[in-house]
Amino acid sequence: MILRARGLVKSYHGVDAAPTRVLRGVDVSVDNGVIISIMGPSGAGKSTLLHVLGSLDRADTGTVELCHNDRWIDLQTATPAVLSEVRAHAIGIVYQFHHLLPEFTAVENVMMPARIVGVSKSESRSRALKLLERVHLSHRADHLPSELSGGEQQRVAVARALMNQPRIVLADEPTGNLDTENAEQVSDLLIEMVRERGSSCIIATHSAELASRADLRYIMIDGVLTQC
Ligand SMILES: Nc1ncnc2c1ncn2[C@@H]1O[C@H](COP(=O)(O)OP(=O)(O)OP(=O)(O)O)[C@@H](O)[C@H]1O
Ligand SMILES: [Mg+2]
Repeated sequence: MILRARGLVKSYHGVDAAPTRVLRGVDVSVDNGVIISIMGPSGAGKSTLLHVLGSLDRADTGTVELCHNDRWIDLQTATPAVLSEVRAHAIGIVYQFHHLLPEFTAVENVMMPARIVGVSKSESRSRALKLLERVHLSHRADHLPSELSGGEQQRVAVARALMNQPRIVLADEPTGNLDTENAEQVSDLLIEMVRERGSSCIIATHSAELASRADLRYIMIDGVLTQC
C-alpha cells in the first residue's frame, strides 16, 4: 500500500456564510500500482480531496499517511521540510490546466522536478528528453508553453509529473480542458506511463471513458466517497 486516508473531514469557512462541509468522512486506501478514478458532480469535493491527499491542503480532522522509503508519514502533521521531501520525491501531480512555468521551455519544465531534488543539469536534461520522446514531443522540446497546443502542454505536464518516478500520481481532471482527440491521447499516455512505472494513480475526472480504465472506480457525492 502507498497511501491510506481515514476519516477526512474538511469545511470551508466563508466570512459571513455558514461553513461548507466539503469532505464528510472520507476513507480511501491506494495499493501499489493501482489506478483509482473518482467521478462525481461539480462541487462534490474531488479536487479538495486530491489536494488533501497530495499534502497541498489539510483536512480539519482525519489522517493521510503516505509510505515513503518504507516509512509511513502522516501528511497532516509532518513538518514542512518532510512534506517538501515527500512531495518532491513521491508525489506527481497533473492539473486540469497544466501549470507549466511560462518562461521555461518544454524540456526545462520537465527537468524542473529533478533539478529541485538535486539531479545534475545534464542528467535531468537527458531524462526529460526521453520523457518528451515518450509523449511524442521531441520536436517541441525547446518551445515555450505559449508556443504549444493545449494537448501538447498537457502531455508536457504528464511528463513532468513522472520525472522523479513518483510512487503516486494525482491527476485532477487531466483531460478536462481538451477536445476528444487530445483527451484520448493524454489519457492513453497517462495510463500507459503510470502502468509502465508501476506507480499508483488517482484520477478525478468527468470523463466516464477515462474513469472506466481505472482498476477501482469511486464516485464522490456531497463529500462522501463510495466505491462503484
Ligand atoms: N477555497 C475555498 N473556499 C471556500 N469554498 C471552497 C474553496 N475551494 C472549494 N470550495 C468549495 O468546496 C466545494 C468542493 O469543491 P471542489 O473543487 O473540491 O469540487 P470538485 O468536485 O473538484 O468540482 P469540479 O468537478 O467542478 O472540479 C465546492 O462547493 C466549492 O465551492
Ligand atoms: Mg475539481
